[in-house]
Amino acid sequence: MTENKKRLLTGIKPTAETLHLGNYFGALKPFLDMYGEYESFLMLADYHALTTVRNGETLRHNSYEVVRDYLAAGFDPKKAILFQQSAIGVHPELAWIFECLVTVPFLMMAHAYKDKVSKGEEANTGLFNYPMLMAADILLYDTDIVPVGEDQRQHVEYAREAASKFNKAYGQTFKEPQERILKEVAIVPGTDGRKMSKSYGNVIPLFGTKDAITKAVMSIVTDSSGGRPVNVYSIHKLFKTEEELAPLYEENSGKYKLLKDALVEDIEKMIAPMRERRAGVSDEEVKDILKDGTEKARAIAEAKMKDVRAKIGVTL
Ligand code: ADP
Ligand code: TRP
Repeated sequence: MTENKKRLLTGIKPTAETLHLGNYFGALKPFLDMYGEYESFLMLADYHALTTVRNGETLRHNSYEVVRDYLAAGFDPKKAILFQQSAIGVHPELAWIFECLVTVPFLMMAHAYKDKVSKGEEANTGLFNYPMLMAADILLYDTDIVPVGEDQRQHVEYAREAASKFNKAYGQTFKEPQERILKEVAIVPGTDGRKMSKSYGNVIPLFGTKDAITKAVMSIVTDSSGGRPVNVYSIHKLFKTEEELAPLYEENSGKYKLLKDALVEDIEKMIAPMRERRAGVSDEEVKDILKDGTEKARAIAEAKMKDVRAKIGVTL
């Protein structure tokens, strides 16, 4: 890694989501396309997951699964630092210091907290303080860029606010990070033409078997408004260019079954090697990669914390 590259950091929560093509094209692929150009950090945000996951076995299982997903999709741990948040004690330590700088009304404006309260549910204190732990995740590494989905925009703003509050009180210490919203890919439609989403039950699974993919593709809703089945075509466009697809769709106008078969083949061509790679990643390999990355990340975070501790006056 060279010194003059900008730093990029993002976090993934191990909260058991089986990924679908919408997640892949909307979030995972844009991240994978960019992280190699930066000095990159990918963090397993297991302490953030603790705000919702209440079972040790589940959290452990999900952590292995999500790392496997990234490796299978092409994330190369040699090109970045992949680390485990909970294994670096200075993250919650710095979060505490930020919590002493920001106000309760400021944290009360956070969307995740407000949504919870508006549903009439009680938020745990972890959820309330969530943005300050996330600020620590980001600021400990002098991060320049934070690639996230739109829903995380406010959290990066909160990180900037924490940096600015600290810098004002104790002198320039933290870089103010910028979010990079991963939204270049238009919304991936599901089998019914609406946004592909777990909650609509219209997904094509990313790591599904060929049978599962075939079943999902065959269920794509085709109306008879023309020779080109819109819902099939708009998913197909993710795998091939319009130029490549034009002859196929012109020659087979109206032949929905044949076009769906062609789509299955194209999905399979991309997914089969990923599925194979995923099956080959053992728990041991995940552990080794995380251990190695966590050591590297810890050295950076602890050096930063040394400066912070001196500035706030707890070094005697
Ligand atoms: P879901 O809607 O299935 O619950 P999530 O909200 O867990 O998906 O999304 C995880 C990430 O994947 C987010 O960054 C989101 O923007 C992206 N994503 C999810 N569905 C789609 C889609 N249909 N098209 C594009 N991006 C998507
Ligand atoms: N809050 C993020 C999410 O729900 C996960 C996350 C934790 C994160 N720490 C981070 C993202 C630091 C970017 C940077 O998706």
